[in-house]
Amino acid sequence: MAPILEVRDLRKQYKSVRAVDGVSFTVPEGICFGLLGPNGAGKTTVVEMMEGILQPSGGEVRFRDRPIDTEFKRRVGIQFQSTALPEYITVKETLELFRALYPHPRPIDEVADICSLWDFLDRDNRKLSGGQRQRLLLAIAIIPKPEVVFLDEPTTGLDPQARRNFWSLIERIKAEKATILLTTHYMDEAQLLCDQVAIMDHGKVLELDEPQALLDRHFHGTVVQIPNPGDLSQLRQARLPADAVFRDGVIEITSDRLDQTVRELLSAELNLDGLTVHKPNLEDLFIKLTGSSLRV
Ligand SMILES: Nc1ncnc2c1ncn2[C@@H]1O[C@H](COP(=O)(O)OP(=O)(O)O)[C@@H](O)[C@H]1O
Ligand SMILES: [Mg+2]
Repeated sequence: MAPILEVRDLRKQYKSVRAVDGVSFTVPEGICFGLLGPNGAGKTTVVEMMEGILQPSGGEVRFRDRPIDTEFKRRVGIQFQSTALPEYITVKETLELFRALYPHPRPIDEVADICSLWDFLDRDNRKLSGGQRQRLLLAIAIIPKPEVVFLDEPTTGLDPQARRNFWSLIERIKAEKATILLTTHYMDEAQLLCDQVAIMDHGKVLELDEPQALLDRHFHGTVVQIPNPGDLSQLRQARLPADAVFRDGVIEITSDRLDQTVRELLSAELNLDGLTVHKPNLEDLFIKLTGSSLRV
């Protein structure tokens, strides 16, 4: 599929901060593309340059192989990381307000269906829960039936149930063939929703690919974690598998011979209470790439 969006050597320098330091990637049409990284990685700065609302210090953004222009802005929908909603009006009135801005807006019923707004259409914006607010903001973003939807950390701060609800809305928008550009610092969210991910830290892209391809490239086997291994001084004498690493008091081993690893752990006489085994995920990859877990 031809790329719908492309960024070439994108840069943004604030006085002393290099927020984005030479980022390039292409986004094929119709996919959900994830920009992942911890707070301060440069995700919002990249998307705001892609949206055309922030001027790059260098590089360029292209939409359907042309530089972005005012026409582009009519063809995208944006859910900002933080947005003020008008107060003292209802959800339905808010939707009407935004519908009036576009020549061919979606009917209210349609956005209410897609974003599950029926239960609170008549509620004042000030009375919405975090999850309801995000659903309304998504509804506003898709009113013009955009070809590209930008979602900047749409689930940050939501409780697990509200996050899951929001994911199903994103799936619905994906099913309509819109291209989605999603930023998140939740690796589980990216793994579930994104067809391709770019992992960012310190203004640069560290890795870019389909989530499973990234994991296959970096890991062989399963991750074994031992949260309460016992007295560290005794552990130094214990016969631990060679590739065991300590992180925040947890022993972690990536094993492609689980039976052998378990035998080694038993003979090392560790406290194995709470031992877990899981297939490597994007969170593990992020730690491997940066040496630290996500700084949230
Ligand atoms: N207007 C600004 N002025 C100065 N520094 C900024 C500005 N906006 C962002 N930054 C800095 O740029 C870096 C990247 O920020 P941001 O793109 O918001 O990261 P993310 O969205 O990944 O959390 C951070 O160090 C942030 O403090
Ligand atoms: Mg951000």
